[in-house]
Amino acid sequence: MSEKKFKRTLVTTALPYANGPVHIGHLAGVYVPADIYVRYLRQKGEEVLMVGGSDEHGVPITIKAMKEGVTPQDIVDRYHNIIKKSFEEFGIKFDVYSRTTSETHHKMASDFFKTLYDKGEFIEQTTQQYYDEESNQFLADRYIIGTCPHCKNEKAYGDQCEACGTTLGPMELINPRSTISGRPLVLRETKHWYLPLDKHESWLRQWILEGHKEWKSNVYGQCKSWLDMGLQPRAVSRDLNWGIPLPIDGADGKVLYVWFDAPIGYISNTKELLPDDWEKWWKDPESRMIHFIGKDNIVFHCIVFPAMLKAHGGYNLPDNVPANEFLNLEGDKISTSRNWAVWLNEYLEDFPGKQDVLRYVLTANAPETKDNDFTWKDFQARNNNELVAIYGNFVNRAMVLTHKYFSGKVPQAGSLADIDNAAISEFVSYKAEVERLLAAFRFRDAQKEVMNMARVGNKYLADTEPWKLIKTDEARVATIMNVCLQFAANLSIAFEAFLPFSSEKLRGMLNIENFGWDRLGAMDLMPVGHELNAAELLFEKIDDEAVAAQVQKLNDKKKANEAAAHTVEPIAPTIDFADFEKLDIRVGRVLECSRVPKADKLLQFKIDDGLGGRTIVSGIAKHYNPEDLVGKSVCFIANLAPRKLKGIESQGMILSAEDADGRLVVTTTLDTVAAGSQVK
Ligand code: 2FM
Ligand code: ZN
Repeated sequence: MSEKKFKRTLVTTALPYANGPVHIGHLAGVYVPADIYVRYLRQKGEEVLMVGGSDEHGVPITIKAMKEGVTPQDIVDRYHNIIKKSFEEFGIKFDVYSRTTSETHHKMASDFFKTLYDKGEFIEQTTQQYYDEESNQFLADRYIIGTCPHCKNEKAYGDQCEACGTTLGPMELINPRSTISGRPLVLRETKHWYLPLDKHESWLRQWILEGHKEWKSNVYGQCKSWLDMGLQPRAVSRDLNWGIPLPIDGADGKVLYVWFDAPIGYISNTKELLPDDWEKWWKDPESRMIHFIGKDNIVFHCIVFPAMLKAHGGYNLPDNVPANEFLNLEGDKISTSRNWAVWLNEYLEDFPGKQDVLRYVLTANAPETKDNDFTWKDFQARNNNELVAIYGNFVNRAMVLTHKYFSGKVPQAGSLADIDNAAISEFVSYKAEVERLLAAFRFRDAQKEVMNMARVGNKYLADTEPWKLIKTDEARVATIMNVCLQFAANLSIAFEAFLPFSSEKLRGMLNIENFGWDRLGAMDLMPVGHELNAAELLFEKIDDEAVAAQVQKLNDKKKANEAAAHTVEPIAPTIDFADFEKLDIRVGRVLECSRVPKADKLLQFKIDDGLGGRTIVSGIAKHYNPEDLVGKSVCFIANLAPRKLKGIESQGMILSAEDADGRLVVTTTLDTVAAGSQVK
């Protein structure tokens, strides 16, 4: 965290696309961490605002609408409401959750563009782009297919051939066709407006690489890698009939690119909430802004949006962008198209009232520094062994024993024994550590420490064994129970940001108010004689059947998808063994791997092929960090004719497996073999 002292904090959360419901990956990556952070600041009495909303523009929404035969507005109305409800149900407490189709937003984004335009912050460029005369539109690269000039795959996309992994431009395709109408395309000239990021490079470099060394290493590293590759102008307009029209003459049929308008949504939504007071959150140097996002949004929030804000003038830049990596599900990437996800609306049908269990498990496994995995077995274990066995068990025993021995009233503590003092000082000592971790956006470790506080309570009860003393020393038992009840009240404060539903329930049982963070550590939260309400269980065990049912549900979805996938991609025609033998496939060790400048999909490899080494360029940059591949063994085609990619001669092809989502996974050998070994 920067040293500067701020008066107030504006927290923004990535605006999810309103073309599907939200799943556990969304919660774990963005919304639970943001909610924890904001709840904590609110507990501390700080001035804070949490802003969210749905991202309702962009091509995929128009395609979905077309497929369903409805309007894009129908699609976004449907999903905006589902998403908003899911967030409410999981206690994600936005101060405002709006949408980018709102009038306020259209005006804000339109004015923002106009200001940049009037200041001469854009460059205009006319290029030739493919046009679908049947559906009457220019097509985004992904929506163009044709024959790959390299491998002759007839279903290569306008941005990549997924058969040979080559990065393509739509102009390279042979016989380009529209995925929408299936018809051949024609070239037409079109003019667009570009934000010249190259002109912003030098201050961005200074601001991030020198000024924000405290940013999380995954965020800092990605920014550095973009900056080192050199920034290029980015088009901020599109030819599309869904979005915010360009507010200038000579731009009929053009709208703002979705990634230009979406982040401005944070500003619009603040204005929608505070029509007369929004500017102080965005412009007062004493306000700080924090963007909670997933790793795929880093470049837009750390480079593009700051460049837009700077070009506009008058706005603050983000103070921090604590982006998370991705959450996987049972070892596999979460995927909307393959339906490999735990949808929040479905979770609540199967586990009603158990929002906090999911919040807890997602925070315990938060992908803060690397991709992480959610499994139903772990979900069950964390619920049963931590929430039930530690926190729930402690609170329940404190409540039940007080009802039993002292008619449900907080008993008078006598003088404290060493064991009491030791437990209290250990319990209280966690507070500073939790504060330090939360300030550093380390929610996973912070939650672990709060659970350790509950552990201290549990151990204290087990060590003091009041049930053995009640017949002989009631005064001593009164002291022990007083300490336990004060611990329980403290836990309602410490867990509030993480498990808000359980804290509320606990406050109900203890019959206490919602104390602020500054009261955490106090041993007089409830006076002597204070009356408790009835004891209830904070958490319940989750049995093996419930977990098995979830695993079964996932496997059923997987089978259905595999069946669907197989009908889509039939096996290629049979070949002779002689044809197979023409391929010389080898194992190579990756000596070096780096991004190719000005090609966001390409990685350049130096491979030890057992024969002195070779260079291979591969279109997998979207799927791997180059440093993660160094030292790995990979399979590659060694006798493919060399070809140039971005001016680099690629001497072979690295083999990757591709799943239904287009995710590429590099192939390797089960055991280590010498570089140069043949694969047969
Ligand atoms: O990646 C996404 O889901 C985008 N809709 C996030 C947008 S964040 C912001 F800029 F609005
Ligand atoms: Zn190809």
